[in-house]
Amino acid sequence: MKNINLSNTDLLLKITDVIAGYGSGMVLKGVNLELKKGDVMCLIGPNGAGKSTVLKTVSGLLAPKEGTVVFEGQDITGHTPKENLRRGIVHVPQERSLFPGMTVWDNLLMGGYLIRSRKVIQDRIDEAAHIFPIVTQRRNTHAGSLSGGEQKQVELARTLIFDPKLILLDEPSIGLDPKSRRLVFEAIRGLATAGRTILLVEQNARSGLAAADQGAILETGLVRITGVAATLLEDPEVARLYLGASTMTRPPAKTQQEN
Ligand SMILES: Nc1ncnc2c1ncn2[C@@H]1O[C@H](COP(=O)(O)OP(=O)(O)OP(=O)(O)O)[C@@H](O)[C@H]1O
Ligand SMILES: [Mg+2]
Repeated sequence: MKNINLSNTDLLLKITDVIAGYGSGMVLKGVNLELKKGDVMCLIGPNGAGKSTVLKTVSGLLAPKEGTVVFEGQDITGHTPKENLRRGIVHVPQERSLFPGMTVWDNLLMGGYLIRSRKVIQDRIDEAAHIFPIVTQRRNTHAGSLSGGEQKQVELARTLIFDPKLILLDEPSIGLDPKSRRLVFEAIRGLATAGRTILLVEQNARSGLAAADQGAILETGLVRITGVAATLLEDPEVARLYLGASTMTRPPAKTQQEN
């Protein structure tokens, strides 16, 4: 791994030597990652590298077998998703997660089920509507009848109801047309501008890195490269191995030779 040069002062998340998997197979083989407050980090890598698994070990959907996950200086390794949600970690999975038969507005309100104060819910809805006007423009529309890109925007808006400190986004642009993809990446920048820290997993590696401050490349369960996203985008070796096409669908050359 090269080029970890973050100072420790503003660290929000620190993943150290995390080993994790499903059953007896280990998918993550000692993952190290550091995320600064207010940054967007884009995690890229070939299919099956373990990107989604990294997000699961942070949100608590999967407990690491070894290693630690430290959030705001506190060891949260193995804590449940509910505990982590209360702590401010929101996980938006790859699959669509709105209730299709409910209106946009009711989907948004569902995000507030842990919150007692109506005033707090209203304030957070106001913030969400400010960044994502669609939630008021289409408030009475059933979520299931929105386009994929519109649904993703409502999902992102809903994260704000939790007042998240860290948003884990798993492939938010997957399956979207170019215009919707652009809207989603703009929305991600909007969330960052509003002070949210984001760990983003993307198959659209170039677009993901372009929307990010930091980048990390995961390959066969290990973080191989981290650095400033703009620098990674310009790095010829990174481009050759990982950014060959706008959508990354193949493992890097080294693995292909081994096959
Ligand atoms: N629930 C599960 N049970 C068993 N194996 C799983 C499970 N989820 C993922 N895996 C396996 O773990 C490995 C890593 O999966 P993961 O979903 O983390 O990869 P990924 O980098 O997100 O891939 P993709 O780009 O395809 O989304 C894969 O081999 C996958 O088959
Ligand atoms: Mg995945």
